[in-house]
Amino acid sequence: MIEKDIQRILVSQEEIKAKVSAIGAQISSDYAGKDPVFVGVLKGCFIFMADLMRTVDISCSMDFMAVSSYDGVNSTGAVKINKDLREDVAGRHLILVEDILDSGITLNYLKNYLLIRQPASVAVATLLDKPARRKADISADYSCFEIPDAFVVGYGLDYNERYRNLPYIGVLKPEIYS
Ligand code: IMP
Ligand code: MG
Repeated sequence: MIEKDIQRILVSQEEIKAKVSAIGAQISSDYAGKDPVFVGVLKGCFIFMADLMRTVDISCSMDFMAVSSYDGVNSTGAVKINKDLREDVAGRHLILVEDILDSGITLNYLKNYLLIRQPASVAVATLLDKPARRKADISADYSCFEIPDAFVVGYGLDYNERYRNLPYIGVLKPEIYS
């Protein structure tokens, strides 16, 4: 059981479901007629994006990027693109979908990287936001939950590739990573 490594549940399944639906409805209204491209940032986005997309009821397409910037709990500060987009995004409205906005280094890098391709716009939708740890000048256009500075796992978020399959957001016991 992976539950034994969790100190406390920060965001429950019910809270996630309600908030993700609300964000999906907001995006559907903001992007009606704009045929946006949802750009998921793998791997952390996979559960959030799967749930979010089923609450979006407008015409849209989806693509994925894979980046690595983290090693365990510490940022290496470097962002590496492991998989790039397949779609040509020039003139399109992009919505980056991320699991968490922490230092902001990853999303800031990705946003600038995508702007070079001259999209019509680039917005950021994140499941979690830890504003206390921000280093890069970036904020989310759509954020489900603002959370305190604790290392969290579940609902797609990992610690060394584990715990992504927890159905809620939990705080990992410090003894697991220290
Ligand atoms: P940033 O570049 O510092 O904003 O980091 C973004 C990435 O760091 C996320 O996509 C996550 O993969 C990872 N990350 C940051 N904080 C946490 C956390 O509390 N739990 C799990 N992963 C995290
Ligand atoms: Mg990660």
